[in-house]
Amino acid sequence: MCGIIGYCGPKNATKVIVQGLRRLEYRGYDSAGIAVGSNGSLKVIKSKGKIKDLHNKIPEDLESTYGIGHTRWATHGVVNDINAHPHVDCTGDLAVVHNGIIENFESLKNMLKAEGHTFHSETDSEVIVHLIEKYFKDDLEKAVKEALPLLKGTFGIVCVHAKEPGTIVGARNGSPLVMGIGLDEMFLASDVTAIIAHTKQAVYLEDGEIVVIKPDGFVTTDIDDRQVTKEIEQITWELQEIEKNGHPFFMEKEIIEQPESIRRAISGRIDKDQATAHLGGLNLSTKDLTNIERVKIIAAGTSYYASMVGAYLLEAIPRIPAIAELASEVRYRNPIIEKNTLYFAVTQSGETVDTLYAMKELKRKGATVLGICNVVGSSIARDSDGGVYIHSGPEIAVASTKAFTSQISVFYLFSLLLARMRDLSFSEGEKFIQDLQSIPFKVEKILDMRLKIKEMAKKYAHCSDFLFLGRGVNYPVALEGALKLKEISYIHAEGYSSAEIKHGPIALINEDTPSLFLVPDDDLRGKIISNIKEVKARKGKVIAICVEGDEEIKDIVDDIVEIPKTTELFYPFLMVIPLQLFAYYCALELGRDVDQPRNLAKSVTVE
Ligand code: F6R
Repeated sequence: MCGIIGYCGPKNATKVIVQGLRRLEYRGYDSAGIAVGSNGSLKVIKSKGKIKDLHNKIPEDLESTYGIGHTRWATHGVVNDINAHPHVDCTGDLAVVHNGIIENFESLKNMLKAEGHTFHSETDSEVIVHLIEKYFKDDLEKAVKEALPLLKGTFGIVCVHAKEPGTIVGARNGSPLVMGIGLDEMFLASDVTAIIAHTKQAVYLEDGEIVVIKPDGFVTTDIDDRQVTKEIEQITWELQEIEKNGHPFFMEKEIIEQPESIRRAISGRIDKDQATAHLGGLNLSTKDLTNIERVKIIAAGTSYYASMVGAYLLEAIPRIPAIAELASEVRYRNPIIEKNTLYFAVTQSGETVDTLYAMKELKRKGATVLGICNVVGSSIARDSDGGVYIHSGPEIAVASTKAFTSQISVFYLFSLLLARMRDLSFSEGEKFIQDLQSIPFKVEKILDMRLKIKEMAKKYAHCSDFLFLGRGVNYPVALEGALKLKEISYIHAEGYSSAEIKHGPIALINEDTPSLFLVPDDDLRGKIISNIKEVKARKGKVIAICVEGDEEIKDIVDDIVEIPKTTELFYPFLMVIPLQLFAYYCALELGRDVDQPRNLAKSVTVE
């Protein structure tokens, strides 16, 4: 949620840290700060607002060779300069940045106050710095190791002390921390986007590990001071992938990248000779796969809607009972683990705490949980029993777009794999592959119509409420369309099955509440048209996303977007693109900060 960076080395640390914070800004953007070593003391600068506001406060000539930085997404305490990180101890020599939540901060704060520590902020994080101060004599690492066992909750922390110039100590429990290894320089960060401009060599810390970095190397230990040997991994993302490359917003870039990202998600995973799919990372034998009797999928937000599509496909194609559930609900429901049930945790970031903790709960009870993740080396990718990377490339815009289409791509492949072990014939498998491989071309055709969608968005962006309506495999797409619109344009939107409107939501229909209907040419088309007529009879405006050449729809609705024809089950790919574009252009029309919408942040590492 928050972004963290630490640097020690020959470059000007202030510049490296501010540049890293810009790259991390998508993780939190209400305030930011740095603490850098300068002339034997720490210089701490913090600012409410964006990184550019922080940057404006930093003197041009602030030289330093080590330091830490943080971009915040507020949990405890309002957004202001004081609550921004880093937090410093009573001497001003020790500074800490923190990602996560300290659950027992009130009792620790009372104890530390009684011992004479002075607190300035309303944050939970400030207790960490005073606790380390309490134990600090002349060794920062030792003090951190004494302080950590007293903390309850989650943390990724990085700290520096003016008396140990050039040294940075980091520790992880539940919030990600990655170390970057450069030439005579070292980095610590909450994710690799902060460091890939400098190095491709990374070491991912595990929970309970502590790392000390200096420009010439690092030491990793556990809380009991036992040395831990770490593997150095290669970062696969390229710098250009985390840049806008001429687009005004990352969201636009990421929507437009989808033909390519879908191709990447399926490429190398299709076996034409056997008319099936192969997914290398599943860690399941043919026997395991044939024994699957049920699939349960956990996720949050957009990933949950992709999971609902996945569950639909698994029932429709290999005919395996499947259900998608909100991870946050599964964790606290004392879930029952049934025999021969395969679980998936679906997540773009791989760090969503709701999904991570639900996965841990399922695993504790003996379930096999596979991850469908984008971020390599993320917590869910590492802790799952196996899984599939979606290979979308970095998704920087807060609103998820390309991850959705890549996640569903993996479900199409997995459904094909299981179906070919059951009742799907060779020729049906071949047809399925053709349909899947044709999707990126059809997505390109829809993207070519974006100016039309932009014009339509101009017409509707002033409306304050919207309904998104779909059925069958496209019902979750309607939910996703409503989520997209509300999160970036702040227009209130609800997603429903179109069959449901007569059970309540139709009461909302009037001239000012448009409905956006998803109308594929499938068995339910006739019923959806009846629902459209019900809305029209109540003077509601209707936009339809329908299939090219659907003349009947044109006469009934106010506006249409025509998408290419595909086989029934493949429409989610083609229905979601106009909805993403519609949300994007409505947000633009209203002058919203599309990539960094209010109150949100990418990668939700708190419950
Ligand atoms: C919506 C959005 C969120 C995420 C959700 C889960 O556009 O981005 O709803 O989908 O927070 O995130 P991941 O997929 O990282 O687990």
